[in-house]
Amino acid sequence: MEKLRIQGGRTLSGQVRVGGAKNAALPELVATLLTEEPVRLTNVPAVRDVATIVRLLEHLGVAIERDNDKTRAQLSAFNGTEAPYDLVKTMRASFLVLGPLLARTGRARVSLPGGCAIGARPVDQHLSALARLGADLRVEEGYVVAEAQRLRGADVTFDSPTVGGTEHLMLAASLADGTTVLRNAAREPEVVDLAALLNAMGAEVEGAGSDTVVIRGASELGGADHEILPDRIEAGTYLIAGALKGDRLEVTKCRPTDFEAVIDKVQEIGADVEIGDDFLRVSAASDYRGIDARTQPHPGFPTDMQAQYMALMTQATGSALVTETIFENRFMHVPELNRMGADITVDGHTAIVRGPRQLGGARVMATDLRASASLVLAGLAAEGETIIDRLYHLDRGYESLVEKLGAAGAEVERFRE
Ligand code: UD1
Repeated sequence: MEKLRIQGGRTLSGQVRVGGAKNAALPELVATLLTEEPVRLTNVPAVRDVATIVRLLEHLGVAIERDNDKTRAQLSAFNGTEAPYDLVKTMRASFLVLGPLLARTGRARVSLPGGCAIGARPVDQHLSALARLGADLRVEEGYVVAEAQRLRGADVTFDSPTVGGTEHLMLAASLADGTTVLRNAAREPEVVDLAALLNAMGAEVEGAGSDTVVIRGASELGGADHEILPDRIEAGTYLIAGALKGDRLEVTKCRPTDFEAVIDKVQEIGADVEIGDDFLRVSAASDYRGIDARTQPHPGFPTDMQAQYMALMTQATGSALVTETIFENRFMHVPELNRMGADITVDGHTAIVRGPRQLGGARVMATDLRASASLVLAGLAAEGETIIDRLYHLDRGYESLVEKLGAAGAEVERFRE
């Protein structure tokens, strides 16, 4: 199994270029199920989750050509309407094929997403919303079996904002009869980007980015060309790398307005951040103040940056409370950070980080995607050698991390034992 070795303490400078957002690429690739015409995407990140969704779409009949950061996807005919467990279990976003299959073919059999390391992540809101659109749904042997003559527009109020649920309903409602209104919708930038693609395909989606999204269903959709927005979580991760070890490190090709809550926090603790239209320039300061953070739906502080922020807080003076409100069990990086010398205690949904602590290299284990990123950041700040096991978690969402950090001056390499 591949591991990552980091020799800590190196200064980071030069440029790190941010790729396309994984969390937009996934639903946007799924949108190719809605048309027989080609959908061409650019700025598609080369990460494992994208490869996983491509495999699932190919299984369903989509022909996909990839050329660096470009994909051309075209569905001429469905191979089938089943998304098997093997292809769904590793990635929850695979579940989004259910709505498009149902809208196009009137039936679908999609495995429920498997257990996930960051706690119970149900899809009950996806299902109750699809039922409002007229889908007949039942669960059989771990699969959702869905049927509908034709989906009909409906008024849907989510119990709490769900990113995947909002995207799933936008996909399905684009081909429903009549108008669908989604209330208490997720406002993440990836939702807005998906709406832009759907509209380019001929759909009528309004209000994405606010808490009410209105979708007027079309009888058919066509092909489109679309550039995926930059990955705000990748950008935020490199921003924190720069706050830890940067000397005018430039994070380029990003959209700072998409992750202001993170940039504000990093500035508030005392880092020197210059904000451009599509770049950030960040230098490490000699001392930082510990400042609390609480994860919230967008535009609040993103849960996908919580672990990385905690790595930064180990270097700040005082106590910082980091509260996770979106997912249960998303503190698995804490024992690993503590093995590197951090002083973090967890009390329910809140972690108390006491700093500053000089971190030391250690052998640590990645447990999920963003937890892995926090260990990389801690490794960059630590004295000595850090070895991170289970690198495949990182590969799900960070494109060419070793190359990007290496070019900025980090001493980091992949190896097999
Ligand atoms: C997406 C992101 C993920 C991010 C998360 C929150 C993708 C591919 N992934 O995940 O990186 O961490 O948003 O910003 O875009 N919930 C229910 N029932 C449902 C759906 C969700 O209870 O039917 C709960 C979840 O368990 C969680 C909360 O709602 O507690 C938010 O989840 P959701 O926004 O749906 O996350 P994902 O779309 O899975």
